[in-house]
Amino acid sequence: MRVWIVIFLVVAVKGEEFPSLITANGSLAVVLDRQYLGDLHQSVLDGLKDYIRELARVKLKRGGVSVHYYSWATISLKKDFLAVFSVASCKDTWDLFSRAEEEQLLLFALTEADCPRLPPDSAITITYMDPGQELPQILLDLRTSKAFNWKSAIILHDDTLNRDMVSRVVQSLTSQIDDEDVPTISVTVFKMKHEINEYLRRKEMDRVLSKLPVKYIGENFIAIVTSDVMSTMSDTSRALRMTHTHAQWLYVVSDTNARTRNLTSIVNELYEGENIAYFYNKTDEGPECKNGLMCFAEELLESFVLALDAAVQEELDVAAHVSDEEWEAIRPSKMQRRNMLLAHMKQDISARSVCGACSTWQALAADTWGSTYRRFTEPGAVPPPVADIANGTLDLALGQVTLLDVGVWRPADGLQQTDALFPHVEQGFRGKELPIITYHNPPWTILQLNESGSVIGYSGLIFDIVNQLAKTKNFTIKVLLPENVAPDTKNKTELAQWAGARATLRAVARGQAAFAAASFTVLADPPPGINFTLPVSTQPYAFLVARPRELSRALLFLLPFTTDTWLCLGCAVILMGPTLYAVHRLSPFYEAVGVARQGGLATIHNCLWYVYGALLQQGGMYLPHADSGRLVVGTWWLVVLVVVTTYSGNLVAFLTFPKQEVPVTTLAALVENRAFYTWSITKGSHLENQLKESEESKYVQLLSGAELSTSPAGTDPARLVRVRSQRHVIIDWKIRLANIMRAAHINTDTCDFALSSEEFMDEQLAMIVPSGSPYLSVINKEIMRMHKAGLITSWLSSYLPKRDRCWKATGVAQEADNHTVTLSDMQGSFFVLALGFFTASVVLLVEFQLRRRRRKSDSDVIKPYIE
Ligand SMILES: *[C@@H]1O[C@H](CO)[C@@H](O)[C@H](O)[C@H]1NC(C)=O
Ligand SMILES: *[C@@H]1O[C@H](CO)[C@@H](O)[C@H](O)[C@H]1NC(C)=O
Ligand SMILES: *[C@@H]1O[C@H](CO)[C@@H](O)[C@H](O)[C@H]1NC(C)=O
Ligand SMILES: *[C@@H]1O[C@H](CO)[C@@H](O)[C@H](O)[C@H]1NC(C)=O
Ligand SMILES: *[C@@H]1O[C@H](CO)[C@@H](O)[C@H](O)[C@H]1NC(C)=O
Ligand SMILES: *[C@@H]1O[C@H](CO)[C@@H](O)[C@H](O)[C@H]1NC(C)=O
Ligand SMILES: *[C@@H]1O[C@H](CO)[C@@H](O)[C@H](O)[C@H]1NC(C)=O
Ligand SMILES: *[C@@H]1O[C@H](CO)[C@@H](O)[C@H](O)[C@H]1NC(C)=O
Ligand SMILES: *[C@@H]1O[C@H](CO)[C@@H](O)[C@H](O)[C@H]1NC(C)=O
Repeated sequence: MRVWIVIFLVVAVKGEEFPSLITANGSLAVVLDRQYLGDLHQSVLDGLKDYIRELARVKLKRGGVSVHYYSWATISLKKDFLAVFSVASCKDTWDLFSRAEEEQLLLFALTEADCPRLPPDSAITITYMDPGQELPQILLDLRTSKAFNWKSAIILHDDTLNRDMVSRVVQSLTSQIDDEDVPTISVTVFKMKHEINEYLRRKEMDRVLSKLPVKYIGENFIAIVTSDVMSTMSDTSRALRMTHTHAQWLYVVSDTNARTRNLTSIVNELYEGENIAYFYNKTDEGPECKNGLMCFAEELLESFVLALDAAVQEELDVAAHVSDEEWEAIRPSKMQRRNMLLAHMKQDISARSVCGACSTWQALAADTWGSTYRRFTEPGAVPPPVADIANGTLDLALGQVTLLDVGVWRPADGLQQTDALFPHVEQGFRGKELPIITYHNPPWTILQLNESGSVIGYSGLIFDIVNQLAKTKNFTIKVLLPENVAPDTKNKTELAQWAGARATLRAVARGQAAFAAASFTVLADPPPGINFTLPVSTQPYAFLVARPRELSRALLFLLPFTTDTWLCLGCAVILMGPTLYAVHRLSPFYEAVGVARQGGLATIHNCLWYVYGALLQQGGMYLPHADSGRLVVGTWWLVVLVVVTTYSGNLVAFLTFPKQEVPVTTLAALVENRAFYTWSITKGSHLENQLKESEESKYVQLLSGAELSTSPAGTDPARLVRVRSQRHVIIDWKIRLANIMRAAHINTDTCDFALSSEEFMDEQLAMIVPSGSPYLSVINKEIMRMHKAGLITSWLSSYLPKRDRCWKATGVAQEADNHTVTLSDMQGSFFVLALGFFTASVVLLVEFQLRRRRRKSDSDVIKPYIE
């Protein structure tokens, strides 16, 4: 029983397997679709049978090949085929391919024109067409091999394309393809009349191009034109500014041939920032060039037989060196064998193919980006004194801009790409070196010097941005310093900075650098010769005031109650005395019960002291006996309870949260308090200009009251001293003030300054490019992306001063650092005590005086003698 199972398993496994090429002949299925071939079928079949027999005899040195012929494409591929050769319609070929793929068979197919090629890594497709009909197939191949990744395209053509051809071209770009990576392209077609006269042609071109609604139909152009129209078109499109960095132009030129091999004669000019590719006819119709279905079929079969021969040879070589068991373990799998055959066949076809009338098209790409800057950055290069790049007229000789060979197209193997068709779209500047100018201006640009004063490094926010830009746009940077400006990082005077800024500006305006890695305030109308990029940072203005100080706690004991409360309390005490006296006096209780009114509350004076004593929780000696009087006293005690509790609680609160001066934290408050405060702004700053233009009253007042200071606040200790002690206020960028604050904190370890809570008058900072630079939009797009990703904010925060304890918001009550009550806090109560003593002494004196008077008057008076 067990033996049977083992045998069954072995048979089952063997059945799954494919025979080795050593033990069995390779078998090939040849599918000649009768429907597709029609009348030709029989003759093709006969021709191929003879051809294969002959091939196997002549070329196949070892083993053999068994061939099975089929007349329809819907065959089952379950048999142990090695490969399938088919001649069928496009649809049938793809169907066959999906079945061959399941069985991991090699399919090499000959099919009709305008058919998307089978995936090049698992099959070979040859589309067969008459010479001169290849354009749609070329565009289809470009699209399926993703030479361009477009969603829309504008086809501009002249009489090169007839009406039938136009619709085939459109079809090849818009047709649905199974591969979801290849989207359909929406196509707009414009026809241009072919004018012989150069002037009329230019006019016609201008008419068509200037009306293109590029906003809606995109900026990817396919111009299928003759070579003379091409040169007119490139001039016109450039004049209309349609060849910028985001536009892509593919010129398909068919009226060339092998003799115009390098296209130099027809491409005359190229400019920085253009994306232009050429696809031109390089067909060299030699006598050896053939065409026709049989030619392709024989070529394919021959290369298959050669590949098979090579494969058999290889397997024999390997098998000869190892034992049978080992061979079983290492022999190539079905997939490996297919790939080997495929590679062999492709190599053979690309080397030997002559069918398709030698149709060959060459793809060239203009390597424009960053090309002209080479002369600035090459060693020993002398930068042109006034570069015309700035006004867009720098003529690039073709020697400067290289045309890259990026691929070849042939009907047999389709597009063989060696580089990107639009290299700059995919690879940015392709690692070129761009000259960039900068100067020391922390925290935006920081030059690091070594001891001998040479620049050894660059950092700062702008360099973070530039480095990121270089990474995404694939360029390296060569930093230039403006002429006559030493990279002196110690010279912190505003003057030095302005000198650097001016020299940088001048150099950029003269086009001596691709752009400036420096921050400039964005102005509504930029200086001539430059353009601002998008702002990299927005700096608000704020002001620096002395930190509000704690108010003295000398009168702390008075603070818990406001003056009204104290007054009311005093009145209450004064009124309560007489009230108590009156109630006590008028009560009939004593007469009725016969109790004597004892001493204590018998006089108004005593009642007053009684009420006062009760207030300080010193119970009086006597209580009234009558309920009426007791009620008065009892209610008073209640009042006392509330008052005293409130007072003590509040007193503790005032100890814990000392009162501070009212801080000035807004512009409005500052302007309102102009009687007490003075303020200063830097002369010639952006703020001054902004304030001059503003009509808002608070800004007008701010400017009119301001002192214009020539030295920046950071370098002028006198101004800081004034802030500290003389109610002076410095108005500047918040980030600068924060730095000043931080420096002062480190120096003195006290927090003497505070920033306003209000920020106003934003100043935008941007880099600059020479005006007309094609890369402004490229840089802007990248800056926008960095902003959106939050990169710039995070980089900037690393250059901001650390938040220390001085950053605590002003105007909010702060808990005191320690709750220990000092003598100065308590002095108020001692004053009261002293006052009490003093008053008591005075009263004492008065009492002595009174007694003496009374004695004297007693002795003076002549008393009647009474017996
Ligand atoms: C392989 O093919 C050769 C020549 O075509 C033939 O002589 C041989 O018998 C075949 N071998 C097998 C195993 O079919
Ligand atoms: C390409 O050039 C060859 C030879 O000059 C020509 O026969 C063929 O028609 C051209 N192709 C197209 C599409 O014009
Ligand atoms: C390009 O072709 C022109 C003639 O059209 C020839 O003079 C020139 O030498 C060729 N250049 C290269 C690099 O082959
Ligand atoms: C560009 O600048 C150069 C040199 O300054 C000048 O000769 C040329 O006329 C300018 N072109 C334009 C269009 O302004
Ligand atoms: C940068 O350019 C080089 C040179 O062309 C290229 O090899 C590389 O792939 C490019 N890198 C990127 C990220 O595009
Ligand atoms: C500073 O850098 C320059 C240029 O890299 C170098 O020649 C010089 O020796 C350096 N000096 C010191 C003190 O390291
Ligand atoms: C700083 O630079 C300015 C302007 O370049 C110059 O006038 C001044 O003398 C320099 N100061 C020092 C200390 O080098
Ligand atoms: C660049 O600046 C010039 C004037 O200096 C201006 O006419 C042009 O519109 C600016 N370009 C951009 C893209 O802002
Ligand atoms: C408490 O505050 C007083 C004055 O504000 C200061 O002199 C004293 O050193 C502080 N004590 C402690 C322990 O911080």
